[in-house]
Amino acid sequence: MRVTIQQLRDWKRQGQRFAMLTAYEYSIAKLLDEAGIPVLLVGDSMGSVVLGYENTLPVTLDDIIRHAAAVVRGSKHALVIADMPFMTYQPSVEDAMRNAGRLLQESGAQAVKLEGGVTVAPTVRRLVDAGVPVMGHIGLTPQSVHQMGYKVQGKTVQVATQLLADAAALEQAGAFSIVLEGVPAALAQRITAAVSIPTIGIGAGPHCDAQVQVIHDILGLFTDFVPKHAKRYAELGAAIQLAVRQYADEVVAGAFPTEKESFTMDERVLKELDAEPSPAAAGVGRPALSEAEGVREPGAAPEPEFSGYSPKS
Ligand code: KIV
Repeated sequence: MRVTIQQLRDWKRQGQRFAMLTAYEYSIAKLLDEAGIPVLLVGDSMGSVVLGYENTLPVTLDDIIRHAAAVVRGSKHALVIADMPFMTYQPSVEDAMRNAGRLLQESGAQAVKLEGGVTVAPTVRRLVDAGVPVMGHIGLTPQSVHQMGYKVQGKTVQVATQLLADAAALEQAGAFSIVLEGVPAALAQRITAAVSIPTIGIGAGPHCDAQVQVIHDILGLFTDFVPKHAKRYAELGAAIQLAVRQYADEVVAGAFPTEKESFTMDERVLKELDAEPSPAAAGVGRPALSEAEGVREPGAAPEPEFSGYSPKS
């Protein structure tokens, strides 16, 4: 049985905080689900941490569908929420309906998330009326990076008032929860107190009903920069480098693979094989002359040595 959106509302009523994490693939989703993380977000943050783009704008609906389907396959208990990428819901309510429908039908995710407040509330209403659970996302909204940059939002009375209005509009439109990203803690506290649906903070202080983090940030897997709002709970990036260096060392030294990682064959088959004339001698399967002798021109520079990793460095 998966966690439901009703449970999240109950948890808010009961004052029970919960954690949400991003997940983008089967194996990690399985680990997070087994660890008891109740909500997994297939965020368009995959644009940065998985696909290596500068921001989230190039992420497509097909990207999210493919990754969300993997996360759904990897999880049994978590509520899986799929982000609606840039320009899959902004142009029209019809686009939003069609694309949210594709997300739920083709990936198996149970809810969608989209960015914006008052301006997207009519879209949220239509989606909710059609049976699509919607998580809102206000404050620092990365799909508007070219307008707002990556700056904390709500430090002035005007913007703080707007964010309170955005949260109220989302609640009235039927959103089941709201991500507050990059919002001062005191404002997030006020928004949390003002709405009956859970607020999920990222860079929004400790007073939200829940917290969300990008999994690569808390595990030390994304090394381009560490956001101020993230805490490193593990250094898996360093652990990966240590492990792969050890692997490469052992390959170079001939210490891997050993018998343990190799496959055996019947001694009798081997004897019979050795008694056969070799295919090369029999001219069977011999590569073409140019291939056998190489296509390098005489006098060409020798092949460069393996330089990606030097076991001595
Ligand atoms: O895309 C994402 O991962 C998000 C979270 C940071 C909330 O929107």
